[in-house]
Amino acid sequence: MLIDAFQRTISYLRISVTDRCDFRCTYCMADRMQFLPRHDILSLEEIERIARAFVSLGVRKIRITGGEPLVRQGVIPLLGQIARLPGLDTLALTTNGSQLAQQAVALRDAGVRELNISLDSLRADRFHAMTRTGELAPVLQGIDAACRAGFGRIRLNSVILKGQNDDEIADLVAFALEQGVDIAFIEEMPLGDIGRDRQAAFLPSHAIRQTLEQHWELIPATDQTGGPARYYRIAGHRSRIGFISPHSENFCSQCNRVRVTAQGRLLLCLGNEHSVDLKSILRDAPAAPDALEQAIRSAMALKPERHHFNLAEPVQILRFMNSTGG
Ligand code: 5AD
Ligand code: SF4
Repeated sequence: MLIDAFQRTISYLRISVTDRCDFRCTYCMADRMQFLPRHDILSLEEIERIARAFVSLGVRKIRITGGEPLVRQGVIPLLGQIARLPGLDTLALTTNGSQLAQQAVALRDAGVRELNISLDSLRADRFHAMTRTGELAPVLQGIDAACRAGFGRIRLNSVILKGQNDDEIADLVAFALEQGVDIAFIEEMPLGDIGRDRQAAFLPSHAIRQTLEQHWELIPATDQTGGPARYYRIAGHRSRIGFISPHSENFCSQCNRVRVTAQGRLLLCLGNEHSVDLKSILRDAPAAPDALEQAIRSAMALKPERHHFNLAEPVQILRFMNSTGG
């Protein structure tokens, strides 16, 4: 098992398979982005090798993220390989939904059990403005296809920004209830310089809860999922309403996860730069047995106790969400 210096068991790995994306969400990316050159990105074989090493060390859940994971060629067979790793309980995927209408069934058949789909607005013009390049209609079709494909669990992810989409909080929840899926509201995190003041648009989770309580009674859920989201239920509905509040309700003491970036950096915390370069271990000494497993084990000592996000300070973490893995 992987246990860090603060006695937290690491059972959950998130792997970013590409930093590229067909969207350019304003909170995730700057206006002009430089994407990584091909040779800097882990190959599909390297990703599988890393996933296998983590599962052999006790990881039980893997989430594939990006960028947008579905823009990576060959991702579906890779998902199939990872899903079959003996010892893995859950394979999950985070997607912007743009290709879900075509891919939902293939993803389910490959063994993906849980889907997170980003959705920040139900208004086509606003959706386009917030994603810079995205179209709402295919995403809604994708959500519909995913619901019909029968995943174990589907959750919408919404980042609410004051003055941009905070008038849609209740509409987004009503949509989730209608579809029978979960929804999580995520407080914006200061990852990368996106060219605007993130503090000005900040809306804490409790403000979102207050808005929702004008429409529904939120009942704290008894079944939490082990992640950072705090869930509520609404009587008569299957959906859970979650809040991921890195600023207003620190959850680091419960952290069970680490991340591997598209470049093969094992990142021990979203809000710190402590990392180990797994790609060079794989490429420099490909034949050395156990070198990767050893590196992963010793990396646990580097996992920081918590993040220190501060929206009032100049950007501390230069890495953007798309190269980190959302
Ligand atoms: N802060 C919070 N959430 C973000 N996401 C992308 N960038 C940020 C950020 N800076 C969200 C996406 C996606 C989820 C995985 O992360 O909307 O739904
Ligand atoms: Fe792409 Fe997701 Fe970043 Fe939006 S938030 S640009 S969909 S990676």
